[in-house]
Amino acid sequence: MSERDRMVWLHDAAKAYGEGPRRVQVLQGLDLEVRKGELVAVVGPSGVGKSTLLHIIGLLDRPDSGTLELDGTDVSCLDLEARAKLRNTLIGFVFQYHYLLDELDARDNVALPLRIAGRTGHAARGRAEELLTRVGLADRASHFPDQLSGGELQRVAVARALAMEPPLLLADEPTGNLDRENSEMLFSLVRELHLMEGLTSIIVTHDEEMAGRCDRAFRLAPAGERSGDV
Ligand SMILES: Nc1ncnc2c1ncn2[C@@H]1O[C@H](COP(=O)(O)OP(=O)(O)O)[C@@H](O)[C@H]1O
Ligand SMILES: [Mg+2]
Repeated sequence: MSERDRMVWLHDAAKAYGEGPRRVQVLQGLDLEVRKGELVAVVGPSGVGKSTLLHIIGLLDRPDSGTLELDGTDVSCLDLEARAKLRNTLIGFVFQYHYLLDELDARDNVALPLRIAGRTGHAARGRAEELLTRVGLADRASHFPDQLSGGELQRVAVARALAMEPPLLLADEPTGNLDRENSEMLFSLVRELHLMEGLTSIIVTHDEEMAGRCDRAFRLAPAGERSGDV
């Protein structure tokens, strides 16, 4: 894959947690390349390091060793401020839990990253309403998190993740707390946004059917075993 076509290039990554007898080697010698525009599922047993991997790619954590390039930028030599800036412009993150702020309505939750980035309240709210429309929640803009269902909360979280128009969407078991029907709806929404917005997306999922609807599935194996496409 040429550098121009590549959004993510993780090479020979290692990550351990803990010290002494409690030390756990989570990732070791891990390689993962993701092409621009690809929708990749990450699968693997619980505790194998899927969240760790996504946090590293999302600049929320650092590998102990190895190389990470995002859209052609080697991130290992960036300082904290440069990493934060790159994260804000490049990456949208959706977690299993929505992490919306209880005291803000859906519109202001989605507008928050835009406000932090310096947009005026008016511009940020306008864009937030546009995003809520795109996730099918135009009529829920003034609802607070405790007035929304689990599926709706995750759709607001997706809208917030896309507020800054990041080219890279990372989702860590985004349907993990949802029932079958809402899981299906959320995954279809993410897939549709992925295609419409020309995103590169990496989704951690336990659901084989969802993984099968991605461009490919990457199976993360325990450190020391071979990870790769399934
Ligand atoms: N902050 C941490 N401190 C210590 N151990 C951790 C930490 N985060 C994760 N781990 C351990 O690393 C392993 C991988 O965790 P995780 O990436 O959350 O796996 P997965 O998402 O595949 O379930 C687990 O054994 C977990 O207990
Ligand atoms: Mg996890």
